Amino acid sequence: MSRKIRVMVVDDDAVLRRLVSEQVARMGFDSTPAASGEEALDALTKSDFDVVLLDIRMPGLSGLDTLREIRKLEDAPEVIMLTADTSLGTGIEAMRLGAYDYLTKPSTLDEIEAVVRKADEKRRLVRQNASLRDAVRQPSEDAAGALVYRSKAMEGLVALAETAARADSTVVITGESGTGKDVLARFLHARSQRADSPMLSVNCAALPETLFESEFFGHERGAFTGATSTKRGLIEAADSSTLFLDEVGEMPAQTQVKLLRFLEEGRFRRVGSTRDREADVRVVAATNRNLADDVTAGRFRADLFYRLNVISLHVPPLRHRREDIPALTEHFLSLFRERFNRPALDLSPDARQRLNVYDWPGNVRELRNALERAAALAAADSDIIEADQLIPSNTSPTAAGNNTSPDSTLLTLEQLERQHILRVLEEQSGNRERAAAILGISARTLYRKLREYETGATS
Ligand SMILES: Nc1ncnc2c1ncn2[C@@H]1O[C@H](COP(=O)(O)OP(=O)(O)OP(=O)(O)O)[C@@H](O)[C@H]1O
Ligand SMILES: [Mg+2]
Repeated sequence: MSRKIRVMVVDDDAVLRRLVSEQVARMGFDSTPAASGEEALDALTKSDFDVVLLDIRMPGLSGLDTLREIRKLEDAPEVIMLTADTSLGTGIEAMRLGAYDYLTKPSTLDEIEAVVRKADEKRRLVRQNASLRDAVRQPSEDAAGALVYRSKAMEGLVALAETAARADSTVVITGESGTGKDVLARFLHARSQRADSPMLSVNCAALPETLFESEFFGHERGAFTGATSTKRGLIEAADSSTLFLDEVGEMPAQTQVKLLRFLEEGRFRRVGSTRDREADVRVVAATNRNLADDVTAGRFRADLFYRLNVISLHVPPLRHRREDIPALTEHFLSLFRERFNRPALDLSPDARQRLNVYDWPGNVRELRNALERAAALAAADSDIIEADQLIPSNTSPTAAGNNTSPDSTLLTLEQLERQHILRVLEEQSGNRERAAAILGISARTLYRKLREYETGATS
């Protein structure tokens, strides 16, 4: 590993500052001095540091005040306080405010080096977990609360969901991709006694298998290599609220056993702990696969399936409830009028007709995407969207939305793979399950690749 640990040395005493930062540089770290808390904060907003060595007693912004401000930064570095005070009081106060550790001056070089390395390691782990947290989604802005429907089928489903919401029992929501399972889960939570606490939502296909259990149940310090601190899991975080397990069919086998125990007894153990803990969590699960088939095929535990499936809510595909199409169309249209600042935007009668008869393999999501695309691309001088602007034709060869033209450049295998994956996904109207089946990879693999594309993490 060639990455240098980036250390900032903050001390108002010019001599000490120079001394410490020279020594830090000699330890092989990247060292930057700062003469005050203000200067340090300024530098921290401009570039990234791993560890800050922070003097406690400084004129102006004190060490502890600086620490408080640093802790508010996004992706904050770890802070090690330097104190001349041997009474421990300030050091402990600093730890309480979130400092990683403190050193009493004068400290030996070995002490400084050891604690900087440990602080940096902790930060790396925190960051790694932060990226895992991406799998734990926040509700999206426009989806909040809106459950639009007109059909009898949805009316019945919503009535059932209202009852289920109050019953506080476990619910499984099934339905094809894009039918509105997330929307229904949020509706359930919002109508439940738990509505005051935010619902936690985790996509089981997005969590790496090796970290699943510790993400779910938490872990104790030292439970495995890299577990340098104790961590609460999702179950604990969702105490007294709802935990939404999306794509529950992707849950690894060992976690299934433990989730079952939790559902039956309300008890669980953190990884590496022998102590039982309790949490009061309502679980709502969703899947676009046929879980019963997974049970038959041995991919999903039958006992867990029955335990989850206390109430099951099936969201029908959009083509089986066409009465919802006009209402959804109006809903999305007004959303995009506002978003694109096109108050007069509308659909031609022909276009509406096309929407009503189209089959919508990608369900509501596809309808939403079609309207969003048409609204975004609508010419400035024309407020009427025509039918042809709406329904994507399946024959478009470079639908994958990339700008590498294949004949001008030779693509790498990775680029080719990416293009192909995005194209299949587009042709399947964003239905990941079907796209994965066509591509011959698992939904988890597809999910991971899409995330890589989104975050630009491709090589
Ligand atoms: N009844 C509805 N009213 C308003 N918006 C809806 C409705 N159903 C779905 N949507 C919208 O359609 C999109 C897809 O819905 P959602 O994410 O809930 O589908 P899903 O069934 O969870 O799909 P997947 O299986 O791919 O996770 C979202 O933007 C959602 O807000
Ligand atoms: Mg979903």
